[in-house]
Amino acid sequence: MNRTGQWGEPGTSVGDAGLPHLDMFDPAGSDGVRTQVAALHHDGHWVAHSDLWPIVIAYDDVKALWGDARFATIGASLLEAQGITSGPLYDRSMRNLLSLEGEAHRRIRRLVSPAFTPRSVAGLRPAMRTYLERKLEHFGPIGHFELMHDIAEEYPIVIIAGIVGAPPDEWHRFSAWAEAIMKQFSFNLAVDLPEIEAALDDMEAYIAELIEARRAEPADHLLSMLVAAEDDGDRLSNRELLDLVIGLLLAGTDTTRNQLGLGMMWFARNPDQWDRLATDPGSIAPAVEEVVRFDPTASGTIRVALEDVTHRGVTFPAGSMVYLLAAGANHDPDVVTCPHAFDVSADRGSFTPLTFGTGRHYCLGANLARAELQEAFGALAPRLRNLRLDGDPVLKPFMSIYGPSELRLAFDPA
Ligand code: HEM
Repeated sequence: MNRTGQWGEPGTSVGDAGLPHLDMFDPAGSDGVRTQVAALHHDGHWVAHSDLWPIVIAYDDVKALWGDARFATIGASLLEAQGITSGPLYDRSMRNLLSLEGEAHRRIRRLVSPAFTPRSVAGLRPAMRTYLERKLEHFGPIGHFELMHDIAEEYPIVIIAGIVGAPPDEWHRFSAWAEAIMKQFSFNLAVDLPEIEAALDDMEAYIAELIEARRAEPADHLLSMLVAAEDDGDRLSNRELLDLVIGLLLAGTDTTRNQLGLGMMWFARNPDQWDRLATDPGSIAPAVEEVVRFDPTASGTIRVALEDVTHRGVTFPAGSMVYLLAAGANHDPDVVTCPHAFDVSADRGSFTPLTFGTGRHYCLGANLARAELQEAFGALAPRLRNLRLDGDPVLKPFMSIYGPSELRLAFDPA
């Protein structure tokens, strides 16, 4: 089906609409997917088909379906697909903020959103700067590092540890728990389930102690705000606080570190733009917007149709899944001028990338992620002069939290 609706009658089932193919497992990663999507956009397509699902690629359609209440988030569908339909991991997954809908979801968002405003998040910026300064003192004179291992792996976890009031040097424990728990997305639960549930139990016990400590003695960080969060007499229960903190840790670490890796990769490939950041602090915030637009670490999201949904003459049958490709929407030439140029100085007008989603499930941590990226580019740009790649980046598969698993960078020693 193309944008003018030339193919198929209104209501043609998406499986019968003769959609063009889009290879989401392109060995060239996001470069390869972008090239395919550019050709599809050029031919006027708004939806394609991968081996797994229909993929929506046009900005207006991705945005409309992402916010459409006739589609639900994926909930525990990936667990169910692996035969897990009950038990601790399943229950926790159903209590995840992203799995909640309706009033249950709105209630939690109302209670926690004040803790994630730009103003609240600004209180974490000094901790970000302190961390980055310490790293720069160490690596600045050396003149090279492997970004992912030496900085990106640790950086967001140290900040989240700060949010919950854990000592920064405990980040290794958080990292190990997060790594184990993220194995639930690796389609190997028959083997991994005991390790995942043990990590969840350990993390939960640890965070329960921190919550108790904050109840007894409020402190100046986000966990205290969450403990005290109240709306019209309503408060978060202990269970909800635990679920939320675990959810934040899982949602906020791998995403941010990979987005940082992708940004640094593009700056190393475009040194003139990196130099601009060093001399013009006002360019940092727009640069972060361009990084998340150009190469999003979360390429999109899956939605499940709750009923037969007909959109632009194509019907998504009840129960079927659809992938909404933010990475495609962000390059739609109908809404972005020169979409394929990585250009931190481009005037993109009122365009908003869909990298953090849209609608009721819009990323709760978007302000935090933006602050982390801004602080990172702001600290690194003036210090890493003559930035360059020190070998080819090693990239993860596109259909994951996408980014470099290895990014060797070189620069002039300070
Ligand atoms: C570059 C970094 C990040 C990216 C690209 C990202 C992306 C996203 C996207 C696309 C969604 C919507 C998913 C959907 O609708 O299916 C989302 C939701 C969410 N994100 Fe992020 N995220 C990032 C960082 C963070 C951080 C730092 C946190 C918190 C510490 C966080 C917490 C959440 C939570 C709790 C949700 C669920 C919101 C809800 O269901 O109401 N994210 N994120």
